[in-house]
Amino acid sequence: MKVLVTGATGRLGRVVVPRLREDGHTVRATSRRPRTDPGVEWVAADLATGDGLADAVDGVDGILHLASAPNRGTHEVDVLGTRRLVVAAGQAGVRHLVYVSIVGVDRVPIPYYRHKLAAEQVVAAGPVPWSVLRATQFPEFLDDLLRMSSRFGPTIGDRAILAQPVDPAEVAARLVARLAAGPLRGIEEYGGPEVLRFDEAVRAWRAARHSRRPLLPVRLPGRLGRTLRDGGLVTTALPKGTRTWADYLADTYGGTTRR
Ligand SMILES: NC(=O)c1ccc[n+]([C@@H]2O[C@H](COP(=O)([O-])OP(=O)(O)OC[C@H]3O[C@@H](n4cnc5c(N)ncnc54)[C@H](OP(=O)(O)O)[C@@H]3O)[C@@H](O)[C@H]2O)c1
Repeated sequence: MKVLVTGATGRLGRVVVPRLREDGHTVRATSRRPRTDPGVEWVAADLATGDGLADAVDGVDGILHLASAPNRGTHEVDVLGTRRLVVAAGQAGVRHLVYVSIVGVDRVPIPYYRHKLAAEQVVAAGPVPWSVLRATQFPEFLDDLLRMSSRFGPTIGDRAILAQPVDPAEVAARLVARLAAGPLRGIEEYGGPEVLRFDEAVRAWRAARHSRRPLLPVRLPGRLGRTLRDGGLVTTALPKGTRTWADYLADTYGGTTRR
């Protein structure tokens, strides 16, 4: 297949592109900036304006839609930009669009998730046969979060929150398989191999970094805290990934000392 990847420069996109190529697909990829890496046909496109989208979708069989702007302009990029993409893809006769979303977008009250859910609905209502794959958190995201939560010394967090980190390379493999299997016209979930409490995740993180930072427990209030403690971010869906939080920590911090 000739496959367009939006968000190809991102954390997930960087492992999706080689995976597609390994499986014998021809890859076209978008970024807002011009790029020229070999083996990939790059198209400059911006979901916020629609610039470049008609060229990006022209002649492709399928789309893996990964691009997202969680921090700024999320409605414009994720919701309206997704609408611009599906309209262009419909006009170009694209046969399957797979949208990557996040486990919990339909229950965890975080503004970003509201936009992701709205984008899922845009995909489902659009003219292109579709699938949605909701993944749990990437371990890099949890790692970033723990570093941020430790800025002032101790690691601050609600120890009963549940997480289920999943390796982006395993999500990439699942996305490519989903694309090849054809439109689901539905939502599939994919999570990591184990559900961890926040305090367990912190303990392993501290050990891997040879850190003696204490955990300063707080109780996240309200519906957000309740939903996160009740497993709003985790899934029982099978199959699941195999690479654990401990595997990620060993790869990232093995043999080093970082506090
Ligand atoms: N991080 C997680 O734990 C996690 C878990 C489950 C699902 N997801 C989902 O997986 C997807 C990829 O996540 P990620 O962590 O790989 O993201 P990321 O590293 O933040 O990358 C974001 C990508 O979006 C592109 N982008 C941003 N604004 C754009 C715009 N206006 N027009 C076109 N492209 C734009 C960027 O491309 P350029 O800067 O090159 O233009 C970049 O490639 C997202 O949809 C996210 O919601 C993430």
